[in-house]
Amino acid sequence: MKLILLGPPGAGKGTQAKMLMDRFGIPQISTGDILRAAVKDGTPMGLKAKSFMDAGGLVPDEVVVGIVRERLQKADCAKGFILDGFPRTVLQADALKESLLALGKDLDAVVSLDVDVEALVERLTGRRTCRDCGRGFHVKFDPPLVSGKCDTCGGDLLQRDDDQELTIRHRLEVYSEQTSPLVDYYRSAGLLTAVDGMQEIGVVQDQVLRSLQAG
Ligand code: AP5
Ligand code: MG
Ligand code: ZN
Repeated sequence: MKLILLGPPGAGKGTQAKMLMDRFGIPQISTGDILRAAVKDGTPMGLKAKSFMDAGGLVPDEVVVGIVRERLQKADCAKGFILDGFPRTVLQADALKESLLALGKDLDAVVSLDVDVEALVERLTGRRTCRDCGRGFHVKFDPPLVSGKCDTCGGDLLQRDDDQELTIRHRLEVYSEQTSPLVDYYRSAGLLTAVDGMQEIGVVQDQVLRSLQAG
């Protein structure tokens, strides 16, 4: 299964990708997670990316295109992959097409998750992530058993630096200007299936799976 999860910040791409990863045994490739790890490790790429990410803008195309090109060549992508947060511009989508062509691979589906703007803001302001294992929670929609602690490993739950309301609203504008054209891009390619992302996490999951089986 070679899949793109497309959708605005907070649509549930990461949440759904983790479930699909367990179900199909294929890796989640989140450019956001890879960039945040690079920032944390203080690598040259991380230093370059940090200011764009903190401001809620996009990291330059050549940086993320390079990350994904390398990542797709790893052995664990042989059976498939779930791209989460990539591509985000038409240039990135064209570059992905070329990378896959060079590897003799093709996308199976692009699933877009549709969610209202105010719901996105509520989801992102309430999101928490485990510092140690990376598991995601939401203070209202997916709360941990013990406030501030991860159910899986007991680690501290942190808020992402870019999950402040002003930055969130900017990220949403950037999505609508630069990324939303990809909905039509993949619709014209006959790859797009849209899922109503406003429903509960488990319901969204069922519909994503059903749309993949139908495709
Ligand atoms: P990235 O990390 O990709 O962030 P994003 O696209 O803004 O998306 P999020 O991770 O915020 O949302 P999500 O859809 O994964 O939602 P989640 O499942 O967590 O990118 C961060 C930054 O990196 C970018 O701003 C940019 O600077 C840079 N970057 C990354 N990729 C790039 C690229 N390709 N090009 C250039 N720059 C790039 O869910 C959110 C919350 O809602 C959680 O708390 C969850 O529990 C909850 N939730 C999920 N589903 C539901 C539901 N159905 N109902 C209720 N709550 C739900
Ligand atoms: Mg995410
Ligand atoms: Zn944890």
